[in-house]
Formats: sequence, structure tokens, C-alpha cells
Amino acid sequence: MKKGKAAVIIGAQWGDEGKGKIVDVLSENFPVVARYAGGHNAGHTVIIHGKKFILQLVPCGVLRTGCISVIGNGVVLDPMAFLKEVGTLRDAGVQVDGNLFVSNRAHVILPYHRMIELASENAPGRVKIGTTSRGIGPAYEDKMGRRGLRVADMFDLQLLRKHIENACHEKNMIAHALFNTEPLDAAKIYDEYAAASAKIAPFVRDTAVLLNKSLAEGKSIIFEGAQGTMLDIDHGTYPFVTSSSATSGGAAIGTGVAPTSINTVIGVTKAYCTRVGEGPFPSEIMDATGERLRALGNEYGAVTGRPRRCGWLDLPLLRYSSMINGFSWWVVTKMDVLDELEEIPVCVGYKIDGKLTDELPAQGCGYNKIECVYHKMPGWRTSTQGITEVAKLPKAAREYLDFLEKETGARIGMVSTGPDRQQTMLTDGFAAEMEALTGHKTKIQAGA
Ligand code: GDP
Ligand code: IMO
Ligand code: MG
Repeated sequence: MKKGKAAVIIGAQWGDEGKGKIVDVLSENFPVVARYAGGHNAGHTVIIHGKKFILQLVPCGVLRTGCISVIGNGVVLDPMAFLKEVGTLRDAGVQVDGNLFVSNRAHVILPYHRMIELASENAPGRVKIGTTSRGIGPAYEDKMGRRGLRVADMFDLQLLRKHIENACHEKNMIAHALFNTEPLDAAKIYDEYAAASAKIAPFVRDTAVLLNKSLAEGKSIIFEGAQGTMLDIDHGTYPFVTSSSATSGGAAIGTGVAPTSINTVIGVTKAYCTRVGEGPFPSEIMDATGERLRALGNEYGAVTGRPRRCGWLDLPLLRYSSMINGFSWWVVTKMDVLDELEEIPVCVGYKIDGKLTDELPAQGCGYNKIECVYHKMPGWRTSTQGITEVAKLPKAAREYLDFLEKETGARIGMVSTGPDRQQTMLTDGFAAEMEALTGHKTKIQAGA
């Protein structure tokens, strides 16, 4: 049997590029979708015929009948958040039994992770990251410090009790000494997690085996990236990043599928740029135009509701992102948000100390020195809503996309002009590649 193929979908900027929507569209022909990094800090919005779903931990493939969804070992799992999300999906009539699986090796978020994160974010003198307060960073710290709790450990109740008692003892002392935080009750946490372990047991598998078997059986896989390249722990705007490997390399580590099994990497970028939380943002718009873009694009966080900072398309950043991830294709979302603009500045280069450079600073403070060089593109000043072929987009919109393609080296694969599943178009080259990977034509059809 021919082996299944794998595609990775990556946020090319600071997250919220519209990955969820794109995974939903493409999962029509990929029978398996796997998350590999992050946790319920993610918020992936999918709108199907006006019905909105916001997925945090559960891969967007769950919304397709017959699709298998996997939460890989690289994800940090808050069992309560998982069970809540599963409950919401069930209530909405979405099937989650027998088609949704969680890795037995995923690390578990516990209440003391949130406690430490909240306390340290607000501690005087500490660099404030503007996190989502989900306990993500401290859970990854415990993983790397080799003192974490994994999903498989939750089923050994004696081990679970001992782990929680020891960890609470230690974390309570640290939080009290450093931040004067009230202690957490280990017995109460144990009761909650022991009860949750019974509820999540039916979902738990060795998902590395499951995914590799799926490929061997000819099933194709989408790896659903969370966060974005500039939030990656190694390659992002450190320390204003998340704590996981959000870039394409993370897909292999975070699932147990070998890098040699990955066939293509697809970068998702907005037609402009946003960021939520603190940290550098070279092309940020600091005047009323930024507020206008926020209003037009409804730029408020799907998880926290925080207003997103808005900026122009940043080509040096996208070139960097493409280099780190190995993008073959671009998916450009939110083209419609630019419909009204008379002209659209695009950052085409970075100057540091007056000299053009292709290298991004390694230090957060290094970004303060960046001076963006802008090229103004003409706007198209007409609605792109309802257009279903890239060739039928207004001329100036096509030129905008051609410019992105020419300046970055990756090809335009998809363009999105609205939040709904239907408001998406594929280029011929990308449609051919998807057909070659999956054996089926992408129809962007109605229904699941
Ligand atoms: P993700 O985290 O990358 O999945 O993105 P989010 O769901 O957090 O944020 C993207 C937002 O943009 C969501 O509200 C989507 O419904 C919306 N969206 C996605 N594509 C488009 C588009 O082409 N046009 C418009 N106007 N909205 C879009
Ligand atoms: P999706 O998958 C946008 C940001 C937070 C904060 C930083 C660290 O929806 O694109 P964390 O809680 O992870 O320790 O916060 O990362 N952040 C995101 N921003 N989209 C996301 O996910 C994000 N996940 C984390 O705002 O600046
Ligand atoms: Mg999001």
C-alpha cells in the first residue's frame, strides 16, 4: 500500500493567522489531523455555514465526520480544559468518541502551574510576557526539568497522589517565598485529577503508534500548528514567546512521526500582521489606522478577548519564517480586511543602524533598533467577498499576492476572503499538490 502523506500548517507570524480555518478546509481530504505543540493557550476559530467553533486543545479535524483527531505528546494538556471542550463539542452535536485521541506521553498542566505563572507575571522586576495565564510555561518547565506528570501517570493513582503532594509542597513554598501566594490544597487537587483521569482514559493512546500506523495504511495527516513562528521558544522574539516549538520541526518531536515523513510545509499569514501580548513588533501601526484595521478585522483574541496589536505585512519577517519552517506554500488570510484601503504599506526591509539586514536580532531589545523600509502598494478598493478564484481577484489584490510570492520564494497556495469555510480559494498549483498528496480534489464543499 502507498504510504500516506503529511502536511504541516504553520502560523508564520505571532499566531491567530487563521490556521484553524485552513486546517478545517483542508481536512476535507486528510483523514487525520494532529496537534503537536502548545495547549489551551491556542484558540482556533472555524466557521461552518455561520456556526462558530473555537477550538483550544482539540484539533479542528474533529469537525469533519470520519476524521481522526490526535493531541500529540508535544502538547501540554489541562485535563479540566480538555473535558470542558469535549463537553462543549458534544453539546454542539460533534462526535468526539472513537475519533479523538490524546497521547499517553503528553504532559499535564496542574493548578500550581497557573499559580506560579500568575504570580511571576505580576511580580515586580520581572519581564512581563503577557501570557494567556493557562499554566503553559511552568508546565513545559517541569517537562524539561524532568519533574513533570504525563497523561499515562494519571492512571497510577498512588503515583498521582505522591506526585501532587510533592509538587504542591515544593511549589507552595516557592510561590509563598517569592510571591507571597496562598498555598494550594494537594488533597483537593488529587481528588479532582483522579476523577478526571477516569474520564479521559477512553481517549488516551500511544498516539505515535497510531499516527505511524495511519501513514502506513495510506492515510494522510495534517499537523495543525498552534501559536506562530515568532512565538517559537527558539526562533521567536524571545523572551516574548510561548514555551513550545511552534515551528515545523516541532511537528516531528511533538508527535513521534519522523521528519522524513513530512512532505510539505504550508505557512499561514494574514494579509497584514497582528500580535497579542507584549513584545517587539517592527511593523506595528501606532496611529488610528491600526485601530481601523483592528475594527475591520475584528482583531480580538479568541481565547482571552484581548485586543490584538495591528501592523503591516512584514516581508523580512516572512522570509525568516519561511527559512525556519521550509515553506513551500503561503496561505494568505483576511485579504477582505484590506478591501477598503487606498494604499497598503508593506515592510520590504529592515534597517539597523542605517544598514539593510536580512538577520533578525537575537535579543528582544535589538528590535527597538529596527527601522522598517516600506513600499506602498495600491489598494483595490472593492469587495473581495464571494470571489472563488484567485484569477478573479481585483488586479491590485493579485499584484499584492504576486509581490509576496516574489519577495519570499514560497508560492501562493490559498487565499481567504472571509471567516467562513466557503470563503476560500486555491491556486491551481496548490490544488494539484493537495490532490497528489491525498488522492482527492479539494472541493471546499458544504457540510462535513
Ligand atoms: P488561528 O489561531 O490561527 O486559528 O486564528 P484565530 O481563530 O485565533 O483568529 C483568526 C480570526 O480571523 C478568526 O476570528 C477567524 O474567524 C477569522 N478569519 C479567518 N480567515 C479570515 C478571512 O479571510 N477574513 C476574515 N475577515 N476573517 C477571517
Ligand atoms: P493560536 O494557536 C496568539 C502568546 C500570548 C503571549 C505569549 C506567551 O491561537 O495562534 P503563553 O500563554 O503561551 O505562555 O503566552 O504567546 N500566544 C498566542 N498569541 N495566538 C496564539 O495561539 C497564542 N498562544 C500564545 O499572548 O504573548
Ligand atoms: Mg488563535
